[in-house]
Amino acid sequence: MNLTAENHRMPLSDGNSIPVIGLGTYADPKKTPKGTCAESVRIAIDAGYRHIDGAFVYYNENEVGQAIREKIAEGKVKREDIFYCGKLWNTCHPPELVRPTLEKTLNILQLDYVDLYIIELPMAFKPGEAIYPRDENGKWMYHETDLCATWEALEACKDAGLVKSIGVSNFNRRQLEMILNKPGLKHKPVSNQIECHPYFTQLKLLEFCREHGITIVAYSPLGTSRDETWVNVSSPALLKDPVLNTIGEKYKKTAAQVALRFSIQRGVTVIPKSFSPERIRENFQIFDFCLTDKEMKEIEALNKNIRYVEMLMWSDHPEYPFHDEY
Ligand SMILES: NC(=O)c1ccc[n+]([C@@H]2O[C@H](COP(=O)([O-])OP(=O)(O)OC[C@H]3O[C@@H](n4cnc5c(N)ncnc54)[C@H](OP(=O)(O)O)[C@@H]3O)[C@@H](O)[C@H]2O)c1
Repeated sequence: MNLTAENHRMPLSDGNSIPVIGLGTYADPKKTPKGTCAESVRIAIDAGYRHIDGAFVYYNENEVGQAIREKIAEGKVKREDIFYCGKLWNTCHPPELVRPTLEKTLNILQLDYVDLYIIELPMAFKPGEAIYPRDENGKWMYHETDLCATWEALEACKDAGLVKSIGVSNFNRRQLEMILNKPGLKHKPVSNQIECHPYFTQLKLLEFCREHGITIVAYSPLGTSRDETWVNVSSPALLKDPVLNTIGEKYKKTAAQVALRFSIQRGVTVIPKSFSPERIRENFQIFDFCLTDKEMKEIEALNKNIRYVEMLMWSDHPEYPFHDEY
């Protein structure tokens, strides 16, 4: 498929399509000045991005919605050009909470629908006001997880027109199979958003998803922000990799651009986060060069099975997804 800056959508299994690069919008809210996210989304849309990845728990969905609506009002884009992905958080898995939670997101965004809504993690937490519920001893308060029931509630949101496509995130093969084999399945997940980059190429999960028409959306495609709250910072930094940098020199591209190009060339959608105007623009400049088969193989060989986002604090959850091989 010949992807260009102007036309870089890939088909999804439900007949819709997804732009292969999107702007990630997670940044520590305590360290990010108000308005930074909105400004970054405006810059991204002006630079050619049509896909924005967000979530209620990023605490900046209001800014994402504001920027999208401004760009529509300006006439820069139409609503149907934009692809917004929102996420259902762990405390909102009970089926009766799914639609009200999505409606809350639509209300924050001030949009009529989202393009993709995904179950953010396969681990349910105790419903309630607290996003990260813990008891008086600091122990995480989990909740019975019934992924099939949550999925059925998502299917109903699609049928009601609140969301165009539905998918999952951080699901392993067993959890995907649970949905795919659910009796009476109405809509298959179109995508699985997972960590994926040259140090964690996810070959087996990629292959499984390909066989089942599930698009992989790669989070942390640049190797994360290396924020210690979430990231195993003892792992080597992806963008310092000599192979990525040497290949970059040949094309006058950065290691980041090479890493992103590698992913889209293997059919993986990327959602790099940047709130810096130069890097937002830089990350979109990946449609004017092409890696050779030899270079693709060289980059594939960098795989070290490094998962930066391990979420080990929840590893005792019955549905913690990363105990399985894939
Ligand atoms: N579903 C999930 O569980 C999940 C988990 C993690 C992330 N996500 C989503 O995926 C998005 C991306 O993942 P991520 O934020 O973990 O990591 P990432 O996109 O791999 O990396 C972001 C970091 O790289 C820096 N950066 C961006 N472009 C760069 C460039 N060209 N050169 C050098 N550094 C660059 C950014 O800093 P500046 O901002 O200063 O440029 C930021 O510190 C998130 O924002 C979020 O939307 C989803």
